Amino acid sequence: MGSPQSPPLAHVFKGTFVHSSASAPLEILPGHLLGVDDNGTIVFVEQADQLEQLAKTWGFKTSDIRQLSKHEFFMPGLVDTHIHAPQYAFTGTRVDLPLLQWLTSYTFPTEAKYQDNGFAEEVYTRVVRRTLKNGTTTACYFATIHTDSSLLLAEITGKTTSFLPFFRFVTELLEKKYPRVQPIITPRFGPSCTEDLLNALGDLAQTHDLRVQSHISENEEEVKLVESMFPTYQNYTELYDKNKLLTSKTVMAHACYLSEEELKLFSLRGAAISHCPNSNFSLCSGVLNVRKVLEHNVKLGLGTDVAGGYSASMLDAIRKTMMASNSLQINKVNGTGITLEEAFQLATLGGSQALGLDDVIGNFEVGKEFDALLINTKASDSPFDLFSADDFEDALQKFLYLGDDRNISEVYVAGKQVVPFSSSV
Ligand code: GUN
Ligand code: FE
Repeated sequence: MGSPQSPPLAHVFKGTFVHSSASAPLEILPGHLLGVDDNGTIVFVEQADQLEQLAKTWGFKTSDIRQLSKHEFFMPGLVDTHIHAPQYAFTGTRVDLPLLQWLTSYTFPTEAKYQDNGFAEEVYTRVVRRTLKNGTTTACYFATIHTDSSLLLAEITGKTTSFLPFFRFVTELLEKKYPRVQPIITPRFGPSCTEDLLNALGDLAQTHDLRVQSHISENEEEVKLVESMFPTYQNYTELYDKNKLLTSKTVMAHACYLSEEELKLFSLRGAAISHCPNSNFSLCSGVLNVRKVLEHNVKLGLGTDVAGGYSASMLDAIRKTMMASNSLQINKVNGTGITLEEAFQLATLGGSQALGLDDVIGNFEVGKEFDALLINTKASDSPFDLFSADDFEDALQKFLYLGDDRNISEVYVAGKQVVPFSSSV
């Protein structure tokens, strides 16, 4: 494909594309043509009646077009804004204790095992493969303090996009050995830090203009502990802010108990929140009022928070976002309802905004990278049945509520097909 005037195209797809824009939580584009160039960039998204003109401009033939079936559509890759790679080892188990006891009983002993590179390599390979199969094309990972095993995670995720914690690490990542992986300053949470440590990390973040991630106001006991450990700060948010860790490159997980004042500070700094509803329910931590966060103009994405959250699927995060919203409504917290379309938007475009990547990924706008999932609502082993087969919106809802990796037949990262796996992934 390609003409002398333009670089060759890697893909031209024809069919239905579903995505979000800043103003519309859900846009369905039936009968469209989408072209991806050799760099993985989307170069056009047009109605199919523009075929002749597009073919002329971009130098492709009708036979180069991949026509989707009527049960297939493309949606943007899912963005997991908060996931602990080492905790994947115990996902789906041990969510029977509140946060602080869960951390000391299960999490810290498990994470200590990552000084063993062999163990790390096995778990990290599996978490990357599992999340890719589940449709996660960008992930913001917590690793552990062990540099060697964290570099292994960088190597394994290097084929997709990830943000990983610090140290020797930063130098290697900044040398662009793995261009799709970026380092991120990661104080675990208030209670595991001293003021000096937070301050030093804030200096580092500022000096090198680095990303920051942590946990905030996840559980009431944790909030009280932070108040007692750091009595000179007004609140938890101020602890991070005064130490230069609340910036436009920050993502804080949970944020269930933030006051209005704290949300205003998040908004002012351009810092983002990662909503992790599976974890919030599983560890009985709290329920984030998503509507309130959005009304404060705070950037918001969704996270699985493996393994506080028992599922490594962002489709599950969408479903649990709906349940969290419904539980607030049941409890008569007014004006809190989130629609399924909005939950979809948070899992895709919202995540890209939270990570400051909305000019690169998050939807199918021309100029962005083609991070995409090919969904087949009639896959032979589909976990759900389509009765009203011609109603596209029903099929889409069924996929969002009932679908899984059996419906995700192909996954693309920056135009490159990564699922089904080639042996190198
Ligand atoms: N707070 C501090 N560490 C953790 C963690 O590993 N998981 C969760 N959910 N919360 C935390
Ligand atoms: Fe977490």
